[in-house]
Amino acid sequence: MPARPRYVGYIAQSLDGYIATPDGGVGWLDPFNAALAECSCEDAGGYNAFIEEVDAVLMGRATYRQVLGWGWPYGDRAGYVLTHRHDYKGDHITAAGPIDGLRAAIEENGHQKVWIMGGGETQRAALDVGMFDALSIFVMPTILGDGLPCFAKGAQHNLTLEKSSEKPGGILQLDYTFKDRAA
Ligand SMILES: NC(=O)c1ccc[n+]([C@@H]2O[C@H](COP(=O)([O-])OP(=O)(O)OC[C@H]3O[C@@H](n4cnc5c(N)ncnc54)[C@H](OP(=O)(O)O)[C@@H]3O)[C@@H](O)[C@H]2O)c1
Repeated sequence: MPARPRYVGYIAQSLDGYIATPDGGVGWLDPFNAALAECSCEDAGGYNAFIEEVDAVLMGRATYRQVLGWGWPYGDRAGYVLTHRHDYKGDHITAAGPIDGLRAAIEENGHQKVWIMGGGETQRAALDVGMFDALSIFVMPTILGDGLPCFAKGAQHNLTLEKSSEKPGGILQLDYTFKDRAA
């Protein structure tokens, strides 16, 4: 039986819980990402160290279409795309389809660390099948007012806070695990 990879989330949200503007835009993140990038402290957001260990990325079809437009900034990492569509194909896609089939494909392919990228619908689907091992949320000091939620609506899940840290620009990093999966 293939070994289970580690499934991790790493996502930025506004203080009011949105990951994108209503039209899916993420330009609101630019000033915060710039604050992280300009900081002289070592790997302020931790992204470079984080992505180094990731060998596959799982994302919803909406996020896939957006990142493809940016030229796929994930190198040769395998892409898994959540969709209800059958036979969905595209550049960088190793497998596409509903969550259970993606999970089976990921595990058959022997990945070690999988980034569940989002968006909110995908986070919800992954949550509801108990896929996450860990989740880092970067809370940006802004109230966006409206947008796409970090987690689509659904059942309650409890997490364990492992660490919280302040980043440049007033960004708060919250690191959770799912070791207490009771709810
Ligand atoms: N701030 C951040 O760090 C961050 C990170 C990632 C994404 N985002 C943003 O998130 C936005 C997109 O989020 P989103 O929640 O609207 O979309 P999403 O999760 O990226 O993708 C939604 C699509 O996933 C498929 N899907 C969802 N649930 C499913 C299920 N249970 N089974 C099968 N397929 C399912 C559906 O595709 P089909 O219609 O093909 O069935 C649905 O249209 C983008 O604007 C992106 O910029 C932000």
